[in-house]
Amino acid sequence: MAKILGIETSCDETAAAVYDSEEECLLSSHLFSQIELQKRFGGVVPEIASRSQLERIGPIVMSALHEAGISFNDIDYVAVTTKPGLIGSLLIGICYAKAIAWASNKKLIAVNHLEGHMFSAFLEDDGTMRTAIPFPHLCLSVSGGHTALYIVHDFGKFELIGETIDDAAGEAFDKIAYRLGFSYPGGPIIEQLAGENEFRDVCHYPRGKKEKESFNFSFSGLKTAVLYDLVKKEVFDFKTGVNKEKMTRDIQKDVASSLLICITEIFEDRIRRAFKKYPQLQALTFVGGVAANKFIGARLRALCERRSKKFFVPHRRFCPDNAAMIAFVGSYKAKKGEFASFDLDAFQE
Ligand code: KG4
Ligand code: ZN
Repeated sequence: MAKILGIETSCDETAAAVYDSEEECLLSSHLFSQIELQKRFGGVVPEIASRSQLERIGPIVMSALHEAGISFNDIDYVAVTTKPGLIGSLLIGICYAKAIAWASNKKLIAVNHLEGHMFSAFLEDDGTMRTAIPFPHLCLSVSGGHTALYIVHDFGKFELIGETIDDAAGEAFDKIAYRLGFSYPGGPIIEQLAGENEFRDVCHYPRGKKEKESFNFSFSGLKTAVLYDLVKKEVFDFKTGVNKEKMTRDIQKDVASSLLICITEIFEDRIRRAFKKYPQLQALTFVGGVAANKFIGARLRALCERRSKKFFVPHRRFCPDNAAMIAFVGSYKAKKGEFASFDLDAFQE
């Protein structure tokens, strides 16, 4: 029986989980989110993130072991997140993982953070393994730090076909929400405001250059267009920030729903073209923090249904950064014998 302890500290979440690869079931998943610490800054401050990781890592790992009903000795492998991420935060998890693996004579497994997200949809809501996702499939991975499109051939076998050339889509939600007067993270409030506006596209923000071949994304032009629209509406000033007197709920709603529709349509365009170019793809998985967005999820599901493709989104708790996905990827890496050495650093995988 193999039990994998997963550790995830790539950004502002400190997470640990235990996955049993024989039973193909998650035994525990614990997480501390720094949202309360970071919210007043409109984004994640790296130094605050790594200091908090250092404080939380020990108790979070202990909680995960306790909930799984096991001790360090019962663990077979320690899987830990490597790049991409904030270097200080990543190093906390990696040093901790190395220390406990070395001290208890366990093998170490390095898991690329994005590979973790890519396979997060393979966990059912109850932590058992979801077997219905066929290969090859398309994976749209979107968070505050990345936006990428992959063809996934098998466990651990995938190819990147498109990614953002500038900002991540989640970052666009966060930065625009901040300029509308809300705190981090912006995605949930943008979704709520858009719902209050019945998801209407009022402002018609630019969708970017009509790409024919490339599957890349770009959101910095969109972010700038929204910013200039806020300046034009006199609710934002580059020197003084949000104009609280002029900002109204109606303006917030119009901007939020227009932004959400715009980003959704950019995703739809890439997915439509990917399914056309690669007809062998049988399904779409939509993963990462932004996959918690029900509106985008419903639109992508509808697109897949029209094309007779399956659609999968992880359970809400496996959309943001979490250690369950790291332990899960660790489980198939262990089966393949893909172990890391003790000189592992944050930029290896
Ligand atoms: O995966 P994640 O927890 O951390 C990163 O690796 O970035 O993703 C966080 C991102 C943030 O940008 C946040 O605004 C976005 O996910 N997010 C959402 C929603 N919930 C979180 N974006 C859109 N709609 C949501 N409901
Ligand atoms: Zn992430």
